[in-house]
Amino acid sequence: MKIEIKENNVVLVKPSNENFEIHPLWLRERAKTENLVDKHNDQRLYDPSQLEQDIKIKKASMNNNHLNIEFTDGIKFEYEINNLLYEIDKKEPAENIILWNSNLNKKPTIVFKKNIFETKVMYDVLQDFYKYGFVIFKNVPVEENYIVNFANSIGTIRPTNFGESFSVKSVPEPNDLAYTSIALTPHTDNPYRKPIPCIQLLHCLENEVKGGFSTLVDGFSVSEYLRKNHKDLFKILTKTKVRFRFVDKTIILENWGELIELDENNRVKQVRYSTRLDYVPALEKNELEVFYEARKIISELYASSKFEIKFRLEKGDLLMMDNHRLLHGRTSYDVSEGKRYLKGCYIDHDSTEGKLRYLERKFGLKWKK
Ligand SMILES: [Fe+2]
Repeated sequence: MKIEIKENNVVLVKPSNENFEIHPLWLRERAKTENLVDKHNDQRLYDPSQLEQDIKIKKASMNNNHLNIEFTDGIKFEYEINNLLYEIDKKEPAENIILWNSNLNKKPTIVFKKNIFETKVMYDVLQDFYKYGFVIFKNVPVEENYIVNFANSIGTIRPTNFGESFSVKSVPEPNDLAYTSIALTPHTDNPYRKPIPCIQLLHCLENEVKGGFSTLVDGFSVSEYLRKNHKDLFKILTKTKVRFRFVDKTIILENWGELIELDENNRVKQVRYSTRLDYVPALEKNELEVFYEARKIISELYASSKFEIKFRLEKGDLLMMDNHRLLHGRTSYDVSEGKRYLKGCYIDHDSTEGKLRYLERKFGLKWKK
């Protein structure tokens, strides 16, 4: 992709064989002189909708990766061509994914260091997080609330009615089956919330039991398998909104959503799956017949050895996973064997994406691809 000038006053972008002209107003909005943009926060000091709609380029020239433009309203600005191309062609982190199944050879893993959050290593870790939907940090200090510092070093922790963080261990009279020692089949967390937590962090503080293995499944990978092999079943899962409901002594939470949610381009945007909490709407019988068949198949795929990976979280491991893409679970364990204690919390995609862009700017990594 490159930029060209035609007849001194038309700026063209050449993505492949075809040119397209950049609108002069689009460029004018991106002029960043001291009078137009606050130099401390990069925010505009004017309302661009008030600019002349028919503004034109009076003169354009290029030299050494810079594009010099004089507009008909008198504003002159020198653009860095790389910045313009980057903005035109930039992909969102979530667009850069690698689908996986149980053949995944190497889990994305990194040894934790206290200053990691400000380093180029963290940038690579976050890239891996978006590629695979999870990453495991090893040797994270085994301190009761370290996870809160960890989460707040990436972005901002998202508290829920479980608190700022929650403790995953077997307790009497649990308000969620996570707080028992029974097996948890693959699920996404809290589909009953508005909004649904984006990213879950789980920090292993104690693990003395033989069982209690962690499981992960790439929900996007299973969705694509269904799209390819069971078109009708895929379709009904993307069209039917299911109600998810959580009941506790002082709160009842509900939200609706598809088991496979698509975006405007028909790409999988989010998966939801929690058989402990879902209530299917009373559809017409034949339609529900198809839905139930689809749910059975997706349930089998989520639990199958074709898609599920299983591993032991060791003391000091911290698992960070995308709750909109991955399903997680755990095998049962025997409490008489010893302690198993994890701390968990949630953060938003805003945190990881914001950190990724910040590190990208800090290390000048724009043109990595
Ligand atoms: Fe969970």
